[in-house]
Amino acid sequence: MTHRNFLHTYDLTAHELRNVLALSQAPIAALGRPLDGKGAALIFEKPSNRTRHSMEMAVVQLGGHPVYTRGEEVGIDVRESVEDITNVMSGYHALLCARVFDHSVLHRMAAVSSVPVVNMLSDFAHPLQAVADVLTMQQVFGDLAGKTVTFVGDFNNVARSLCEASAMLGMHIRLGCPEGYDAQDTELLGLTELGAASVEQYRDIAIAVSGAHAVHTDTWTSMGQESESEEREAVFAGFEVTNEIMSLADSQAVFMHCLPAHRGQEVSPSVIDGPQSKVYQQAHNRMHAARGVLAFLMGANI
Ligand code: CP
Ligand code: NVA
Repeated sequence: MTHRNFLHTYDLTAHELRNVLALSQAPIAALGRPLDGKGAALIFEKPSNRTRHSMEMAVVQLGGHPVYTRGEEVGIDVRESVEDITNVMSGYHALLCARVFDHSVLHRMAAVSSVPVVNMLSDFAHPLQAVADVLTMQQVFGDLAGKTVTFVGDFNNVARSLCEASAMLGMHIRLGCPEGYDAQDTELLGLTELGAASVEQYRDIAIAVSGAHAVHTDTWTSMGQESESEEREAVFAGFEVTNEIMSLADSQAVFMHCLPAHRGQEVSPSVIDGPQSKVYQQAHNRMHAARGVLAFLMGANI
């Protein structure tokens, strides 16, 4: 039987992304328990709060049973190969979901799996986060076409997936990133091809944020990059989202962050804990977005 994977935001078409957003907001009862009596493997090579809890609850809400597994427990490519793990687990579960250091592991899983593979964050992409991000912006602004989203900081897994989802919904995309931690020209072009109203990248975050409707940022040092943290703190000095920076955005602008946050580094406490912040709505939307994605992968349609 053919199945779909969700390794990147663009694994969905724009139409399917809108469908997933509708599924995310549909009453749980309307989704029809597509995981009834079925399992979902949730494999984590890295720590998690939001992703683990939102995914476990989404699986339960769809009638299924989540099996949380730590990466070192199964020993990916240590105790046994990714391919053996995948072939075995796809005989037990209706979904294989993994948070991995190396994105290529997800491609190897998808190559042999007989059930959908879901990216719960890799070094390259965080598409479940992106669905929650656009869901949150849509709840605030309605249709996102023509609205401006700005990402400030490291063009990382979260930024990449957020930009893809925003492009697919017709938003203007602005990046404020330091040299060497920015989006390559091919990625900027790819965002235009996905449907972005416009794509601009600046070194000066004041310009990137000017007039934006939503200002996003993320940690300067992602999981797996801990040895670079001192160097990164020096590079990203000047990339903190402060009240002064937020005052340059649209008067109705919101501040967003996937969390975990580092107050006093990428964002000032007064911004993340202030009236423009949507970070907890965004975090809670991780569960609704996860439910929408998993329902879609199990064939639900509304
Ligand atoms: N935003 C996010 O993915 O958080 P966790 O790392 O806690 O899952
Ligand atoms: N970019 C961060 C996101 C954490 C949810 C990381 O990969 O660590």
